[in-house]
Formats: sequence, structure tokens, C-alpha cells
Amino acid sequence: MFKNDLTKKFSSGTIITHWLTAFLILLLFPMGKYMAGLETSEKMGFIKIHAVLGIIVFIMTIIRSWLFFKSPRPEDLKTGSNFNDKLVIWIHNAFYILLFGISISGIGTMILGGYGDALMNDNANLILNKDEIMPLKGHEIMSVIMMVLLVMHILGVIKHYILTKENTLRRIFW
Ligand code: HEM
Repeated sequence: MFKNDLTKKFSSGTIITHWLTAFLILLLFPMGKYMAGLETSEKMGFIKIHAVLGIIVFIMTIIRSWLFFKSPRPEDLKTGSNFNDKLVIWIHNAFYILLFGISISGIGTMILGGYGDALMNDNANLILNKDEIMPLKGHEIMSVIMMVLLVMHILGVIKHYILTKENTLRRIFW
């Protein structure tokens, strides 16, 4: 029977950025969906908060990617199934790719969709029609895919615990 070494932990930087990002994603997704249903004139304040928190996620992702290569990491988890071992790694990699994609498309939306101009001139009419903002489509689709992966990520931790009694969260806590 395989056993993972749970005494080896991720670096403090990775732990902080992981949990801060998780917290912000859980705030940004419902906030984005809520904003999508508002009239442009009503959403200006939310856009500001959403963009600032989103940029923090972007910065956290850059730092975390740097730490991924620079700071020592515990070995990849072994689950007992070759397929699951690969799935775990691919879900983790996909998070990085999606977080970059969501952040960049969010910034693209701000610039190309007229949101930046609207905020600077305090004029919500400068925001383009949703269908005309290409990066916003990508932003929306990637956000939904990321939430699906987030659910799989959490279910994976629970399933691993039920099957092996290994609390893998210990690696990402102090
Ligand atoms: C991980 C980070 C982020 C998540 C999870 C997220 C999530 C979302 C979601 C779910 C929407 C609604 C899409 C729709 O259904 O139409 C949205 C909209 C939007 N997001 Fe983000 N976002 C993030 C980061 C950012 C960043 C970094 C920026 C810009 C700096 C940004 C700018 C926007 C803008 C301008 C909208 C359009 C709001 C509207 O007109 O309704 N987002 N976001």
C-alpha cells in the first residue's frame, strides 16, 4: 500500500498565496455574475472593487508561479491510480493557466470594453455592449471552467481522505 509523506509542506509563500487566491476567487466569481445582471450605471462601484481584487489575484498568481519553480515543493501526491495521479497534476496546472487567462482577459475587458474610460470619466455610457467585448466572453467561459475545476479539486481532497485517511491539507497548512 502506498503512503504519501505528509510531513513535507509547501513553502510559506505558496501557502499564503494559495489561500488568499482561493478566498478571492470565491468572492470574485459570484460578484462577477451579480454585476453581469446589473444596468451599466449601477455597476461602476462593483467594477472598481472587482478589478482591484482581480489584479491582486493576478499578482498572487505571478508570485505563486515563480515560487513553483524557485521554492522546494513536496512530491506530487500518489493516489493509488495512475490516471488519478495525472489528473491531480493537470487540475493543478490548469488552475495556473486559467488564472492567467482570466486575469489577462479581465484587463482586456477593462481596456477594450470601455470600462477603464467609463471609470476615469465617471460616465457609464462609455461601456460597450457586452456582445462587442471579445475578451469578456473568454473571461466568462474561463471563470466557469475554473469553478468546475475548483469543485473537482475539493472533491479530490475529500475522496483521497475517505479512501486513504490521509489528510493532504496538512501539506498546505502551517
Ligand atoms: C480570478 C479572478 C477573477 C474572477 C474569478 C472573475 C470572475 C468574473 C465573472 C464570473 C464575471 C461575469 C462574467 C459574465 O457572466 O458576464 C466577471 C466580469 C468582469 N470582470 Fe472579472 N474575474 C476575475 C478577475 C478580473 C480582473 C483581474 C479584471 C480586470 C482588471 C476583471 C474585470 C471584469 C470586468 C470588467 C467584468 C465585466 C462586468 C460586467 O460588465 O458585468 N475581472 N468576472
